Amino acid sequence: MAAEPGRHLPSLASRLRKVLRFTAIYGPGRTLFKAAARLRLRVPALGGVMRQRDVGLIGCGQFAFATIGYFLHRRSAHRVLACHDIDPAAGTSLARSLGVPVVAGDAGALLATPGLKAVYVASNHASHAAYAAQALAHGLDAHVEKPVAVSFGQLVQLERARRASRGRLVAGYNRPFSAAVRELRRRVVIDPAGGFSMQCFVAGHVLGAGHWYRQPEEGTRICGNVGHWLDLWIHVLAWRGLPERVQITLAWADERERDDNLAITLASERGDIAGIMLSARAEPFEGINESIQIQHGHTLCKIDDFRRMTLWQGEQVWRHRYWPKDVGHAGAVLQLFADDGVRDWAEVEVSTLLMLHIAQMVREGLRESSFSISQARADLAQAVASS
Ligand SMILES: NC(=O)c1ccc[n+]([C@@H]2O[C@H](COP(=O)([O-])OP(=O)(O)OC[C@H]3O[C@@H](n4cnc5c(N)ncnc54)[C@H](O)[C@@H]3O)[C@@H](O)[C@H]2O)c1
Repeated sequence: MAAEPGRHLPSLASRLRKVLRFTAIYGPGRTLFKAAARLRLRVPALGGVMRQRDVGLIGCGQFAFATIGYFLHRRSAHRVLACHDIDPAAGTSLARSLGVPVVAGDAGALLATPGLKAVYVASNHASHAAYAAQALAHGLDAHVEKPVAVSFGQLVQLERARRASRGRLVAGYNRPFSAAVRELRRRVVIDPAGGFSMQCFVAGHVLGAGHWYRQPEEGTRICGNVGHWLDLWIHVLAWRGLPERVQITLAWADERERDDNLAITLASERGDIAGIMLSARAEPFEGINESIQIQHGHTLCKIDDFRRMTLWQGEQVWRHRYWPKDVGHAGAVLQLFADDGVRDWAEVEVSTLLMLHIAQMVREGLRESSFSISQARADLAQAVASS
C-alpha cells in the first residue's frame, strides 16, 4: 500500500528495527523483496533459463511488486513479460527492478503483447473488474486482486466475461490458501446439521479518510479490507454447505467514518454465527495483525496472526508454528499455475455479493439488514443472462 501524503516519515532506527522484525516474521528473502519494492531497487534474476515470460501485470504498486512479483519470480516458472500502470513512474520502476521487458502505455497495448498467457490485476479497486474482463475477452487467464468488483454492475460484467472466455478467472483472496486454514480443513469433521462459530479481530493499517481505499467509488474499506474475512467466512461455511440467509448487524466507533473501527456480526438460519472487528486506532508496527477463532462440532482452532495455530479436537491437540508467516499469499498468487486447480469461483461470487451488501449498508448508515444468498445469486444470474 502506498504511503499516505502528509504522514511523517519514520526515523532510520525505526526503519532498521522494522527490517529486523520483518525478517523474523517473513524471512530474509521476502523482507528484502518488500524493501526493494518500497525503494524500487533492482532484484537479481534467479534461475532464468527455465523461466517463461508470459505474465502481464496491471497496477505496479507495492503489492504487485512485493507479493505478486516475489512469488512469481521466486517460486514459479513464470515471469512478468509486460506491465502497465497509470503512473508511468510506477510501471518503469517496477520493470527496471524486476527486469520486465515491456512497459505498456495502456491496458490494450499490454493485452496485445505476443506471448502473454495470464494477467494479474493489482490496480485501484474500481478498475479491477473491467481490466479482468478485458483480459478474459482476449482469452487470457486473469488473476484479479481483491475486491473483484466494487458494484453489482461490475460483478455482472465480470461474470459475463468469465462465462464467455476460455481463460480462467481467479481472485486474490488469500486466507483460504493459508497453511492454518488448509490444516483446519483437513482435520475438521463436518457436521451437516451443525453451525460454525467464527471470530476475527483484525488490527489493520491506519488509513486516513483521504486514502484511496476509503473512497466511496473504490468501495470503501469494506471492499478494500473487510472483504477478506467475509470471504474466509463464506469459504469455511462452504465446507458444510452455505446457508440461505444471513442476518447482519453493524456497529462503528465514529458515525463520520463508518468503514473504519467497525464490528460486524453475522448469523445464519443454519446456526452459524460470526464476528468481524476491524480496529485501526494505531499503526501496527509489524503490519496487519489477525486473531481468528473457529469452532465447529468438536473442533476448535485459534489462529494467531497466521504465525501459530492451536487446534483441539476432543482431547487431542495440535500446535503449529508457521515461519515465514503464512497468510496464504503463495497459494493465492500461484493458483493459476498450481497442480491442484483453482478455487471454486462460486465462493468468491457469494462473498463478493455479501461484501457489496455490507458496503451499501455502511454507505447508507444502516445498522441491521437481512441478506438472502440464494436471492442475490438469482439476481446476479438474471442480470448476467439479460443483455
Ligand atoms: N491480497 C492481499 O492480501 C492484498 C494486500 C495488499 C493489497 N492488495 C491489493 O493489491 C492492489 C494494489 O494495492 P497496493 O497496496 O499495491 O496499492 P498501491 O497504491 O501501492 O498500488 C496501486 C497501483 O495501482 C496503480 N493504479 C491506480 N489506478 C490504476 C488504473 N486505473 N490502471 C492502472 N494502474 C492503476 C497506481 O498508480 C499504483 O501504482 C489492490 O487491489 C489491493 O487491494 C491485496
